[in-house]
Amino acid sequence: MGPLRCVRTVLASFFGHRYGGAVGAELAGGKSCSIALATLLTLASPAAVHAFAPQDATAQTAMDTMAQRMQACALCHGKEGRATRAGYFPRIAGKPAGYLFNQLKNFQEGRRSNQTMNQFLLTMSDDYLHEIADYFAALDLPYPPAASSGLDAAQQGLAQSLALHGAPERKIPACVTCHGSQLAGRLPATPGLLSLPAFYLSGQLGAWRTNTRKAKAPDCMADIAKRLEPEEIDALAHWLSSQSLPAGTQPERASTQLLPLACGSAGR
Ligand code: HEC
Ligand code: HEC
Repeated sequence: MGPLRCVRTVLASFFGHRYGGAVGAELAGGKSCSIALATLLTLASPAAVHAFAPQDATAQTAMDTMAQRMQACALCHGKEGRATRAGYFPRIAGKPAGYLFNQLKNFQEGRRSNQTMNQFLLTMSDDYLHEIADYFAALDLPYPPAASSGLDAAQQGLAQSLALHGAPERKIPACVTCHGSQLAGRLPATPGLLSLPAFYLSGQLGAWRTNTRKAKAPDCMADIAKRLEPEEIDALAHWLSSQSLPAGTQPERASTQLLPLACGSAGR
């Protein structure tokens, strides 16, 4: 089975698992698919440099080799890690390095579950995971233009109000207090939320509700996701997904203010 077919199969198995859809025949080729994918992802390991380096290895800069090794990720995460809002795969380019490193560790140690992500990270050292995180965090690439959210005015108002003001009576702080005033993320380890696929965003909030995604305790996002109603999650996911950010937007600098809820993964 070719790599693209594999991606479809991996996706099908993912959605089949999480959304209860039928997966069926595609997965019949699952074994050869996972071998093809595993082979592909060995390109991402440090050992690949030796296998693929030209005769004069000194001619390669560290940046070149990292860019080459990380091409395996583009298959799912889009060219240079800037996946669009379509489908399910999250953009990873430009997210804070601390956040990306924490996620690679979460997959490696089973606090997040996705078969591909869990498997290829197993043998990678912390130093190398930091290198990967630093590489994608430093990519400063444009976001896709804003799109229609498909929400009606009441749903849009609901999402915007939760994002900017929260729901204090239900102990839901405004998303902007931690994710930054533009929701572009905050250093060292809180991600931006805009222009990600709506499916991905609602999938992550759903995973926190069902304890299938965990962050370092105290896990503030688990508390927040469990306090949100399903229709609020749906409105937020579509609203956040439809927004864009001006080119060159960076995550905000670390704040010295106390967070409205304690987050073990926010890095302070
Ligand atoms: C076969 C598809 C596939 C490939 C190849 C792949 N990923 Fe992923 N990755 C995913 C999926 C799907 C998710 C989201 C899983 C979930 O729902 O938690 C993900 C999530 C992530 C996340 C967390 C993103 C976030 O915003 O929380 C990071 C970081 C990441 N991948 C890095 C990488 C890197 C680096 C590579 C290459 C070395 C790579 N991935 C290759 C499918 C893939
Ligand atoms: C108290 C601080 C805080 C508040 C308030 C907060 N978040 Fe978060 N959020 C975080 C942190 C920290 C992370 C990173 C968690 C991790 O490392 O897994 C995160 C991660 C996320 C992610 C995962 C993004 C990805 O790429 O996988 C989503 C989705 C999210 N938050 C949505 C929201 C929404 C929607 C709101 C408002 C209703 C909100 N957050 C409010 C701190 C916060």
